[in-house]
Amino acid sequence: MASTLSFFDAVRNRRSIYKLDGTSPISDGRIEEIVRQAIQDVPSSFNSQSTRILVLLKEDHEKFWNIVMDCLRAIVPKESWPKTENRISGFRAAYGSVLFYEDPEVILKLQEQYAIYADRFPQWAEHTSGMHQYAIWTALEAEGLGVNLQHYNPLPDQRAAEVWNVPQAWQLKAQLVFGSYGPGVREKLPEKSQKPLEQRLFVYGR
Ligand SMILES: Cc1cc2nc3c(=O)[nH]c(=O)nc-3n(C[C@H](O)[C@H](O)[C@H](O)COP(=O)(O)O)c2cc1C
Repeated sequence: MASTLSFFDAVRNRRSIYKLDGTSPISDGRIEEIVRQAIQDVPSSFNSQSTRILVLLKEDHEKFWNIVMDCLRAIVPKESWPKTENRISGFRAAYGSVLFYEDPEVILKLQEQYAIYADRFPQWAEHTSGMHQYAIWTALEAEGLGVNLQHYNPLPDQRAAEVWNVPQAWQLKAQLVFGSYGPGVREKLPEKSQKPLEQRLFVYGR
C-alpha cells in the first residue's frame, strides 16, 4: 500500500493488469487526491502545464467505454468483432478511467514565444503527457488498484468532448483504466521480460 512503498518499490510494483472489476480499494476522494497531486507536481516542458485530465468513475467510466465500443463496432470487421467486444467489455467492467489530454493552445503559444524550438513543442507535450500517465499509473497501483494503459484515441474524442464538455481542440492521448483485481491475479502475471541490460544502459566516467 502507498504509505509503506518506497518510490522504487512502487516503480517495481507497477504492471499492466487487465482482469479488473468495478470496485475500488480506495475512496473516490483518494483517487481524486492522487490525480490532483500528480497534476500539481508532475513537470512539464517549459513549465507549460499543458496536460488536462478527466477522471471518469463508475457510470461515467462505463459510458466512455460504451462510446469506444460504438466507435469500434462501426469499423471492426465482423469476424474480429467478438474479440474486440470482449476486450472493450473488459475495460468497461473496471471502476474508472483517467483520460489524458494535451491542450494545443498552450503549445501554440509556446511555439510563438520560443520560435527557435517551435518544432519541438509537440514532442515535448507527448513527453509531458507520458510523465503524467506514468506518475498516476504507478501511484494508483501503489494504493492497491490494478491499472492498464490504452490508446483508443482519436475514435471517441468527439463524442467524449460532447458528453463531458471537453473543448474539441484538446487532444486525447491515452486512457488509464483502473479497478480492483482478485486474489492471485498479480501472482499470475507474466514474468517481466527483460532485454539484456548491456544493450540498454551505458555508464561512463565511473
Ligand atoms: C507508452 C506506452 C504505451 C502503451 N500502450 C498500451 C496499449 O495501447 N494497450 C495496452 O494494453 N498496453 C499498453 N502499454 C502497456 C505495455 O504493453 C506494458 O507496460 C509492457 O508490456 C510491460 O508490461 P507491464 O506493464 O506489465 O510491466 C503501453 C505502455 C507504454 C509505456
